[in-house]
Amino acid sequence: MLKGRDLLSIHELSVDEVDEILNFAAELKTMQKIGVEHKILSGKTLGMIFEKSSTRTRVSFEVGMYQLGGNALFLSNRDLQLGRGEPIKDTARVLSRYLDGIMIRTFGHDRVEELAKYADIPVINGLTDLLHPCQVLTDLLTIREHKGKNLKNLKMAYVGDGNNMTNSYLYGTAKVGMTLTVATPANYKPNEEVFKNALEDAKETGANLSWIENPNEAVKNADIVVTDTWASMGQEAEHDERKKIFAPYQVNSELLKNADKNVIVMHCLPAYRGEEITDEVFEANAHVIFDEAENRLHTQKAIMALTMSD
Ligand code: CP
Ligand code: NVA
Repeated sequence: MLKGRDLLSIHELSVDEVDEILNFAAELKTMQKIGVEHKILSGKTLGMIFEKSSTRTRVSFEVGMYQLGGNALFLSNRDLQLGRGEPIKDTARVLSRYLDGIMIRTFGHDRVEELAKYADIPVINGLTDLLHPCQVLTDLLTIREHKGKNLKNLKMAYVGDGNNMTNSYLYGTAKVGMTLTVATPANYKPNEEVFKNALEDAKETGANLSWIENPNEAVKNADIVVTDTWASMGQEAEHDERKKIFAPYQVNSELLKNADKNVIVMHCLPAYRGEEITDEVFEANAHVIFDEAENRLHTQKAIMALTMSD
């Protein structure tokens, strides 16, 4: 039962709950395509706190809320008293008196946890430095669409920086029983605790999770290759240094020769062509990448409907 719950991490969801979100997202997508409205959140309001920039998360949550019959409020850190130092625990208790749910994008994952602890309405993680659960649930939906519903026989390779996306891929693939090989430089591995938790989760589903330094080895026979920016939000000052370190991890046509011949390449966006992905590979996979972007809308509608409805 997701009703009334927070969604901070895929790790906190059961295998069945992940399945429920993906199935409901697919259903909502079909309904939207045939023009059937589902006003399940009529009269509800979502507050969206942004302490970092966003295109997809902001627009898809806001539009999703309207499509479900509710309202969404964009709450920028620049305007909130939170940005002037009002404690997050006070903000949580105040917003709980007005709203029916909160989506937050911020830096430290502890901020989201603190918000959720003090709010008595569902809190949804719209990205932290540690995790990006809505994006990875979306990616699983997109993989189902492009590769079929049985995810257990698929191999994903993540190539690049061991960041919030990598951590959430570990949690997401563990819940659906996929094979995931992560290739990062040795000093940029995914979060150690997340990896440990994901390996525990994997025991339930038979998922096969591993790390390797060599990107060519990682993508061998991969059905899906994913990458993400080499410098996440908050790491802008390290950008030049990171460009040098990560150069061998670029997703380009040479690397993909090692993958399955029907490989698809995914990217959560924004993409930096010429860095983590070449323009050629990006454009050859644009049909998948923009399905992935669109699916944020459907997946988050499912998450909001399941957690926020009466
Ligand atoms: N992928 C993603 O979360 O995009 P935004 O940063 O634009 O929200
Ligand atoms: N890893 C990236 C994801 C952006 C959606 C970042 O945190 O900036």
